[in-house]
Amino acid sequence: MDQGSLKLIGNTPLVRLQNIKIPNDVEIWLKYEAGNPTGSYKDRMALSVLTTAINNGVIKKGDRIIEYTGGSTGSSIAFVSASLGLNFTAIFSDAFSDSKRQTMEAFGANVIIVESEGKGITPELIQKMKKQAYILSEEKNSFYVDQFGSKNVLKGYLPMGKEIKRELEGIDVFCASVGTGGAIMGTWQGLDNTDIRLVAFEPLQSPFLSTGKGGPHKVEGIGVGFEPPFLDRNVLNEIRCIDQEDAFKMCRTLSKEEGLFCGGSTGMNVCGALEIAKNLKKGGKIVTLACDNGLKYLNSHIYNL
Ligand SMILES: Cc1ncc(COP(=O)(O)O)c(C=O)c1O
Repeated sequence: MDQGSLKLIGNTPLVRLQNIKIPNDVEIWLKYEAGNPTGSYKDRMALSVLTTAINNGVIKKGDRIIEYTGGSTGSSIAFVSASLGLNFTAIFSDAFSDSKRQTMEAFGANVIIVESEGKGITPELIQKMKKQAYILSEEKNSFYVDQFGSKNVLKGYLPMGKEIKRELEGIDVFCASVGTGGAIMGTWQGLDNTDIRLVAFEPLQSPFLSTGKGGPHKVEGIGVGFEPPFLDRNVLNEIRCIDQEDAFKMCRTLSKEEGLFCGGSTGMNVCGALEIAKNLKKGGKIVTLACDNGLKYLNSHIYNL
């Protein structure tokens, strides 16, 4: 059967940095995920979780899909649901960007707003959203995506690793910033080469992975402030903290000097890769992820100075 618009997910380009000065003539390659339909690698996750549930007979056309979301994952679920004939209900909040609500609604999602106090993203707000999602998913013909628990999240990112492996040989380091840990671990598994050094990044302002204590920060999608459910510390070689302000500045450099237009987590990934390059052999190869599209951040502190 033809997959329709789901064919637009994945097979993204691997792009080498051309103009930014890199120590030791190291090659830095970015898996450029902005080209996915909603402009983020989360489309791969939504595709995996929902098509697996359909193929296993857990859900069928017309069923209701539930998730609580800050909007990026929600946009991906809304898009995939539209393509598969599913009805997505997003538990969202006025604390997140309104354009993300609009994107979900454009794909036909029903968006329930949990009101925040003064538009602040707090642990209490997240708990309230989570609770509402649980309550709704108990209802008949409802399916909870569970982006922090479903084993089909990791599976969604395997192709990302396989696509990189097909295109590039001799990779020394694979590195990425961490939210749930799904993207870094799924890609790592797809690369299927334990000789590649695996490095995770987190915001210096919220160093939970390295110190056990998070804090407020402004890099959307990462630094969740609790142990990322998919991160396997047994295979991780290193955790590095990157200053969020350097990451935001890097976003602007990437767009102006490389023509690569991305969000804060990508800025963080490139800052981290440049740090690693300082101690890598001459001509070594680093691969990291360009997680999402800068268009999502036009009105944010990253581009709207
Ligand atoms: C923009 C962005 N970057 C990075 C991440 C982290 O990805 P993961 O949750 O797979 O670790 C996310 C997750 O939502 C994201 O939205």
